[in-house]
Amino acid sequence: MLVACAEKFTINGAFRLENHNNSPNCMINGILKRYKEYLPITGDTPIFTIGEGDTPLVESANISDSIGCASLHFKLEGCNPTGSFKDRGMVVAVAKALERGVKSIACASTGNTSASAAAYGAYCGLKTTLIVPKGNVARGKLAQAVAYGAHIAIVDGSFDKALEIARELCLKHPIELVNSVNPNRIEGQKTAAFEIVEDLGDAPDHLFIPVGNAGNIVAYWKGFVESRRREDCNKLPILNGYQAEGAAPIVIGKPVDFPETVASAIRIGNPASWAKAVSARDESGGIIDSVTDDEILAAYRLLASKEGVFCEPASAASVAGLLKQAKSGIDFSGKKIVCVLTGNGLKDPDIANEIEPTSIGEYAAELESVEEALSLA
Ligand SMILES: Cc1ncc(COP(=O)(O)O)c(C=O)c1O
Repeated sequence: MLVACAEKFTINGAFRLENHNNSPNCMINGILKRYKEYLPITGDTPIFTIGEGDTPLVESANISDSIGCASLHFKLEGCNPTGSFKDRGMVVAVAKALERGVKSIACASTGNTSASAAAYGAYCGLKTTLIVPKGNVARGKLAQAVAYGAHIAIVDGSFDKALEIARELCLKHPIELVNSVNPNRIEGQKTAAFEIVEDLGDAPDHLFIPVGNAGNIVAYWKGFVESRRREDCNKLPILNGYQAEGAAPIVIGKPVDFPETVASAIRIGNPASWAKAVSARDESGGIIDSVTDDEILAAYRLLASKEGVFCEPASAASVAGLLKQAKSGIDFSGKKIVCVLTGNGLKDPDIANEIEPTSIGEYAAELESVEEALSLA
């Protein structure tokens, strides 16, 4: 796969960036180029990509049987360049910021937004500041932000407090806020719905998706509604959003002061896109419910061991929600279902290390001892 590199140059004092990705061998268009007509792109918007979008929609091999549905697919958003869906929105937010001559970006983050902002900031030569809640960011995500060279402020408070600080910082200084409250993030993230419609030839009957700050469920709904308006699909999906039980403000109907869950990416007590998420849920005729940490971790292990998909715990909330509904007796026969798996499992090595190995041991470096280990002796 050939991904073209970008060239930075200045026109009339304004920072410009364009990819030289016209090579016939270049297989990655990126979402700015691919969905140009459906995004807020003008002639002055720099078009570039580090490989976001065009993620696989993989058919379930084993879990679908227990659901009894017509088909079950997983949208593998962990295949984006920084390992999460955030890259779709980040490329649009950063491109629009560059268009206005912005030199500095910032966000609050449970980890994935910061990894994404740091990567696009590095690619575009922007100063990137990340405000992250102390002790609440998975190790892999922090390692990414460090490697991309971002400025990191760890604050002694929740994600919600970090977002408050980021908002104030960007109001006070010429810094672009690239959290999902930035509408360009939602614009970019809606392209995942376009891809699902393209791959299935229609919208699914049900979409299952984790919910944290609630931007992504809003973005998917926007994407499906736009696809329907263009008559790219014949129906709209029922949205099934899932929060973690200890961080489920939308489910209980009030903010959670001290959100707690093993799924750190959705450890959010007062979602910024709460009202929009509720509208999307209601327009789709769907639900936003919660799953326990045990249900999340069971789905996380099941996805890895039965489907070969290693996602992060927050992502597994979508499948945990589907399993919960199936267990409660909901009839999915004849239904096409898509579960969005938002991030890569390698981002959270501490949780991964808690999985009990099927079989692991140390042996002498000899064929016989390995045969013995495999019960082949
Ligand atoms: C892996 C992962 N899944 C799900 C979510 C929730 O997305 P949203 O905050 O848009 O609801 C996040 C947000 O950080 C995430 O990183």
